[in-house]
Amino acid sequence: MLKPRLETDPLDHPGDFRRALREWFRREGRDYPWRRTREPWAILVSEVMLQQTQVATVLKRGFYRRFLEAFPSPAELACCDDDTLLKAWEGLGYYRRARQLREAARVIEEDHGGRFPATLEAIHALPGVGRYTAGAVWSFAFDRPAPIVDGNITRVLARLMDFTGEVNRPAAQRQLWDWAGALLDRRRPRLHNSALMELGQTRCRPGVPDCLACPVARFCRSGEPQSLPRKAAGPATTAIDEHVVFARRGGRVLLHKLPEGRRSGMWRLPVRQPAEVAALELLHRRKYGITRYRVTLHVHRAGRFKAGADERWHPIDELDKLAMPPADRAALMAVLGGE
Ligand code: ADE
Repeated sequence: MLKPRLETDPLDHPGDFRRALREWFRREGRDYPWRRTREPWAILVSEVMLQQTQVATVLKRGFYRRFLEAFPSPAELACCDDDTLLKAWEGLGYYRRARQLREAARVIEEDHGGRFPATLEAIHALPGVGRYTAGAVWSFAFDRPAPIVDGNITRVLARLMDFTGEVNRPAAQRQLWDWAGALLDRRRPRLHNSALMELGQTRCRPGVPDCLACPVARFCRSGEPQSLPRKAAGPATTAIDEHVVFARRGGRVLLHKLPEGRRSGMWRLPVRQPAEVAALELLHRRKYGITRYRVTLHVHRAGRFKAGADERWHPIDELDKLAMPPADRAALMAVLGGE
């Protein structure tokens, strides 16, 4: 890979670095709905959605727009029930985020009289809002200075500074936040933070970066940016099997409402132990991932069974009103389509 040599150290010439970055972003920065608004609530919603979900997914099928239409301010979300909340979040995954966002909305309603808090500390104190999200709302909505470090910016900074430590260690995180703070354009924090993030998404990408098209390549200390950032290995993924049953009675199917856990309140096909389904016909099989598990979901035709607690017969033509994990919905549609 061709990479221009370092000519200028970013910490020695922060003004030049910032200018090169922002001029590039002004020319080439992408247009996202959350870059068109200065409304802190709309920005908070976008950042919570984007925490673990890709931009394309958040934009796809109008998730972001629809969520804000349903919950244009914290007041509407604060009083929303579980079923409505899970349905509005369906497809984005990591449902804990949705509940925490509702908690944040309740705190805004109850402790701040419905007005979005207007200090960095008060934003950081909202449920589910960590240092990154607080800095993002502070800089993107209020255009006030706070550094931000997410996965994209971690990669940019590790390469720019030729940081070879493991970036998921606490001491490394402190170092990255310090660099983000030192490089921050305090007069144009919105533009600067957006640009740094965009650089990670479009030029300084995971794997092999596009250094020839990088607006700040001449500030980059790394000779082998493709090898950075380095990370300590996380927990390995584990393969598991999950067995569910398909039971139909006329125009209804049996579903189970999850009482607890990260997907609590969502409706699934009823789960059974392997021994209970051993003699049943296998109708469908599909794989999905959740946290550190690679799950193979097996759908069996129910034989004689006893409906358990929290299990209900639901009309098939009203399934789209229920919040369901995407793998269960896809499996159920495949089975119903194959009947
Ligand atoms: N990912 C997280 N926040 C983002 C933002 N504001 N713009 C683009 N991608 C993002």
